[in-house]
Amino acid sequence: MRGRISDNPTDVLTFRQNPNDRDQGKPGQDLLWPGEFVFGYPGQDPNSADITEPGPISEAGPPWAKDSSFLVFRRLRQDVQAFRDFVRQTALQLGLSREFLGAKLVGRWASGAPILRAPEADDRALADDECANNNFEFVEETPRIFPQQRQSAIDCTDEIPNAQPPALFPPSEGDPDGEICPFAGHIRKGYPRDDTSGTLPTTREVTTQTHRILRRGIPFGEPLRQFPFLDFGERGLVFLAYQTSIVEQFEFILRQWVNNPDFKELQAGHDLIIGQDNMPGAERERKFTITFTKNGIVHREVISTHIDWVIPTGGGYFFAPSIAALELFST
Ligand code: HEM
Repeated sequence: MRGRISDNPTDVLTFRQNPNDRDQGKPGQDLLWPGEFVFGYPGQDPNSADITEPGPISEAGPPWAKDSSFLVFRRLRQDVQAFRDFVRQTALQLGLSREFLGAKLVGRWASGAPILRAPEADDRALADDECANNNFEFVEETPRIFPQQRQSAIDCTDEIPNAQPPALFPPSEGDPDGEICPFAGHIRKGYPRDDTSGTLPTTREVTTQTHRILRRGIPFGEPLRQFPFLDFGERGLVFLAYQTSIVEQFEFILRQWVNNPDFKELQAGHDLIIGQDNMPGAERERKFTITFTKNGIVHREVISTHIDWVIPTGGGYFFAPSIAALELFST
């Protein structure tokens, strides 16, 4: 987030650590105007040519609501066994590894490494490197950051820590056709970065940045036991997201992107991680177009399921008051 904590010019919320782009925090993390998440500040301007321009001030109404936010809460039960069964069976049918299919569904390997920078195999060092693990776009190529570009001790580079001889993480070459990260991959649906869309023509980086959320997933329950017949527990994720417009941010992401099988292109499919299909007659079927290269040939297949493995079991929309607002009402 843009902005300072105090009047001291160096007391910033987010350090600008990308020598290639000083409008980012860590590389790949575009700095956003705080009004997207907290009331009383400028937000993003969807009509400007550039994501760096400030837009209108986010207003909640009463003056005491400044510095407050809206909170979305969801309790999401996860049927881990059902998800694993689907991945195992589908990977077998397609002749792919389970790990590779999982990475295609999410857009990141199980370690967290982004497939845009690790298209063939998981890369633990990349996953663990906060300077590199978010530095990619979906359309444009993302240049690497060389050690000689570092201007201060906190600047990021693409050097692989402790590599002998010294080496850099692979660059992201971009993926306009969804051959590396499918258009319906979870991270591409949830945050399409620089994608444009044939079916939702208003989609551009400047508008996408008005549909962001400040998000945390908190796991609950014990991990799945090795022997499912010994497993009686529930598990899942408590999903929390802050924003100043629930309609334009959380709900927009779900309605227009995640649950829209024709975003970003016709028949791209649903996000198979969290997507839902409530269309009458569809019996909750979700489809996903996957593209992969095998023996030098590009394959495009549609996979599908009727089974839900992320099941909402509770939730609500809340007003999250600022500390000043809490103090006002507690006296
Ligand atoms: C059990 C449910 C869920 C699981 C297992 C899950 C899993 C993940 C994973 C593994 C990532 C990539 C790592 C990260 O950036 O944190 C991710 C990112 C993301 N998820 Fe989810 N997620 C879930 C629910 C949701 C929901 C309900 C939303 C609603 C909008 C959502 C939106 C996003 C977004 C926007 C990103 C970030 C993409 C980016 O910054 O590049 N997720 N999720």
